[in-house]
Amino acid sequence: MTEHPALVAIDGPVASGKTVVGRALAARLGWALFDTGIMYRALTWLALERSVSLDDTVALTELANAAEVRVIPSDDPSSPDVQIEIDGLNATEHLRKPHVEAAVSTVAAVAELRRRLVQLQSEAAAKGRLVVVGRDIGTVVLPDAPVKIFLTASPEVRALRRSMQAGHATDNDHEQVLQATRRRDEHDRNREASPLVPANDAITLDTSELTLDEAIEAAFTIVERALPSAAAAH
Ligand code: DC
Repeated sequence: MTEHPALVAIDGPVASGKTVVGRALAARLGWALFDTGIMYRALTWLALERSVSLDDTVALTELANAAEVRVIPSDDPSSPDVQIEIDGLNATEHLRKPHVEAAVSTVAAVAELRRRLVQLQSEAAAKGRLVVVGRDIGTVVLPDAPVKIFLTASPEVRALRRSMQAGHATDNDHEQVLQATRRRDEHDRNREASPLVPANDAITLDTSELTLDEAIEAAFTIVERALPSAAAAH
């Protein structure tokens, strides 16, 4: 019998719960969580630190090709998230800063730069025991992953989750978040480099009607069917 690599790939649109479901799965399996968005964020942070123009795709690609990127397992047993070091600097605390947030989708759209990050991501996953989260994990980064989950929810539900996270109260705020969510979906699905699409062999899990606990349970059931020994160990 072929041994499957111990990998779970989770893709899906913005605010579909990929990271929170992935983190819970990783904790339950005793594995690490590698949210690949942190790599795009770390590189964006480095580009901004070094004043590389976001319009200059050649300079951005050179930066990506030259950067030394290390994925570091967490030393906090209560959190399975890996950390990221770029050119010797731990970028983790900068990843969610507003200037990084505003620029990261521009950086992530550069096809040549993605090639290098995809290579680093698949190298980082080579040892297994990882839940890997992103937009193109099942299709491009880990096409052979034994479990591929495409996590989704209606734009209305995802916008509501984002509104609640941001503490928005009014209908007007919510309407704006809904429109922004739809625009992000449109952009993610139609971008030229690695558009967001489920892999042919991915299982789609729609969490619109599920609580977080139910979503985690449903995802765990998918893992259990594909990798019974990994799931049984915990
Ligand atoms: O999931 P996130 O918000 O941390 O992702 C940050 C950006 O990187 C976002 O623009 C989507 C992009 N991304 C990507 O293109 N491919 C991935 N595998 C992960 C993230």
